[in-house]
Amino acid sequence: MTKRTAAITAVGGYVPDFKLTNKVLETMVDTNDEWITSRTGIKERRILKQEGAGTSFLAIKAAEDLIAKRGLNPEEIDMVLLATATPDLPVAATAAFVASEIGAVNAFSYDLQAACSSFLFGMSTAASYIESGRYKKVLLIGADKMSSIIDYTDRTTCIIFGDGAGAVLFEPNEEGLGLQDEYLRTDGVGRQFLKIDAGGSILPASKETVENKQHYVYQDGKTVFKFAVSNMADVSAEIMKRNNLSHEDVDWLVPHQANKRIIDATANRMGVDHDKVMMNIQHYGNTTSATLPLLLFDYESQLKKGDNLIFAAFGGGFTWGSIYLKWAYSK
Ligand code: UT7
Repeated sequence: MTKRTAAITAVGGYVPDFKLTNKVLETMVDTNDEWITSRTGIKERRILKQEGAGTSFLAIKAAEDLIAKRGLNPEEIDMVLLATATPDLPVAATAAFVASEIGAVNAFSYDLQAACSSFLFGMSTAASYIESGRYKKVLLIGADKMSSIIDYTDRTTCIIFGDGAGAVLFEPNEEGLGLQDEYLRTDGVGRQFLKIDAGGSILPASKETVENKQHYVYQDGKTVFKFAVSNMADVSAEIMKRNNLSHEDVDWLVPHQANKRIIDATANRMGVDHDKVMMNIQHYGNTTSATLPLLLFDYESQLKKGDNLIFAAFGGGFTWGSIYLKWAYSK
């Protein structure tokens, strides 16, 4: 009997209309287009301006896009997983609200948080539910409203992040397509380098934490950069090695979009040509949980059934890893 694999069978995406360009950032903080472009590769990012709209707004739009394109009856969805570092509310699962709003009334749902690796780890979770035979349709959404946790007077972080969402559907596959292998890692040494100090259980919100701007993302960029470069390249090279993949066998590298220099270093280490590297950081910046599905959304028309995709991500915690997936359909 062939093993039941878990394949991605549909993709959706959404970014808000408002573009925050490098030129506009030049008027907000002491920075310039040349610095941002050469150090990060980012030209603009999208920001959700609508009052009262949180991450669920983005997630719902991406899910609705997938549902419409695929002609899916949302009542058939068994499970909704929302990968996010910016839930609507601290306690109530944002995924539950998203599932209800998209009409996934027969699904159960929850949020999954592993910083910038949330979606990658979510792929592992979603695929496991399918491979086990427990569920047949798992909707995995990666969504983040990063603008809600960014200090727009801090030039070291406000130039990097943007808002967005992407969604994929995982279903069983009998041809051996879909997720082939994963190599997922974490190291708690990382939490001092990329974090939000207040608002969690260690330091609950207070007048002081607000005054001290402790509810915004803090990043020791240089240190995170060093860890990201070596670890993303290591896991990507390792997953190729243990699956006997040469650079010619890899059709696409699907890397987390944190910094073009990290992406280039990962591709170089893998020996993969740059025209096989998915990249949209110039348009969206770092959308945290949404980077990987937004790449699939933008590149979907170029993907062919049987293509070998290597996903790689690195994020706060630290959390990082790589996934090898065979694409299951041609457009
Ligand atoms: O997705 C989660 C994982 N996150 C990442 O992977 C991000 C990893 N880190 C990075 O991508 C990079 O470290 C940054 C893009 C955040 C920063 O780039 P960098 O090349 O590491 O710059 P740096 O922090 O070493 O700063 C170099 C200089 C400093 O000035 P001095 O001390 O040399 O005088 C900074 O103050 O650049 C200055 N600087 C800026 N200048 C203009 C920092 N931010 C800016 C800015 N505009 N926006």
